[in-house]
Amino acid sequence: MAEPADRLAVFRDQLADLAGQARLRRLNPRAGVDFSSNDYLGLAGSPRLADAARRALEAEVPVGAAGSRLLRGNVDLQEAFEAEAARFFGAEAVLGFGGGYVANFALLSTLPQRGDLLLLDELCHASANEGARAGRAEVLRFRHGDVGHAEALIGTWRADGHRGTVWIAVESLYSMDGDIAPLDDLAKLADAQGFLVVDEAHATGVYGPEGRGLAHHLEGRENVVTLHTLGKALGGSGALICAARPLIDFLINRSRPFIFATAPSPLMAAVGIEALAILRDEPERRATLQAHVDLFNAELARRLPEVKTSGSQIVPLIVGGDAETMELAAQIQGRGFDVRGIRPPTVPVGTSRLRVSLTLNATQDDVLRLAETLEELWPAM
Ligand SMILES: Cc1ncc(COP(=O)(O)O)c(C=O)c1O
Repeated sequence: MAEPADRLAVFRDQLADLAGQARLRRLNPRAGVDFSSNDYLGLAGSPRLADAARRALEAEVPVGAAGSRLLRGNVDLQEAFEAEAARFFGAEAVLGFGGGYVANFALLSTLPQRGDLLLLDELCHASANEGARAGRAEVLRFRHGDVGHAEALIGTWRADGHRGTVWIAVESLYSMDGDIAPLDDLAKLADAQGFLVVDEAHATGVYGPEGRGLAHHLEGRENVVTLHTLGKALGGSGALICAARPLIDFLINRSRPFIFATAPSPLMAAVGIEALAILRDEPERRATLQAHVDLFNAELARRLPEVKTSGSQIVPLIVGGDAETMELAAQIQGRGFDVRGIRPPTVPVGTSRLRVSLTLNATQDDVLRLAETLEELWPAM
């Protein structure tokens, strides 16, 4: 009898290649002061959210939705949450999903039609890229934050005789760079050409009046679609697409990740309603986060003037090489700070970085100590 083939060799070999490039990922336990989560307002462990979940359980809200939204999975609480979110964000209609990844995928694979052009900022999240790839529109990428380039690409596309709708997809606050999209200029371009899709994942809860996001002033326009996630500043999990009613109805009818999936846990709807209430009732959380941002950016500018900062709660410290980045991250972790190195393919090759994320899970003293530690370790590279 022939020796059985080593069925796992193909996987082992690829993992060994990743290790050779200093790109092998492992699951590590939580350790150190939080400078890596997206729990910007410190809500994930908040007693108010825990109480909301407890009250829902006591009121016999089921833990699981037990079906697709189009079947038995459409519980009242989910619809109440969507109605509340529509009021809060100023949208005509809202549709909930189990997470931001699947919501982004659903949106960009479903709404842009055959014959349309989908233009993505080159730094858009993996979920936007995967949605674009699965959809029917032609996809092009414009240089990061460069509206002129987006306009030029549209110009060439139109000159080739295309008459379809243009969809421009961006993040309001970029997840790995912490910078802000030129939303007003993009909205102007979208007014002339089609639709603007804004992923507010890292801005929701943090920016805009009451944390309604950086695109809050554009919400409610018929050609603006926004995505708000619940798993970052809002402390839960899930996501909401905010859009004009016909677009939401189209997603309900045509979006496969919506139709062929179990609805999110109704408990998350209870948590989401409470998270929106916290955004209204506890503005001091945003003020404290802003104080962290101001302190960290000022300390970095003073201690490491050669390092560019972002001015937001996401501060990328670009190191360059993968191995150097992970080595520096390990040294900082050894001092008790949970700072992670980010490597390709999450970020472009040659731009590996420490992604410092400021949250209310760290104190002002922690922020100061991290800046001191960075000053001490940075030149050692
Ligand atoms: C910009 C952006 N969009 C979408 C997502 C996905 O959201 P979720 O984590 O809720 O799936 C992320 C998560 O990292 C993100 O950074």
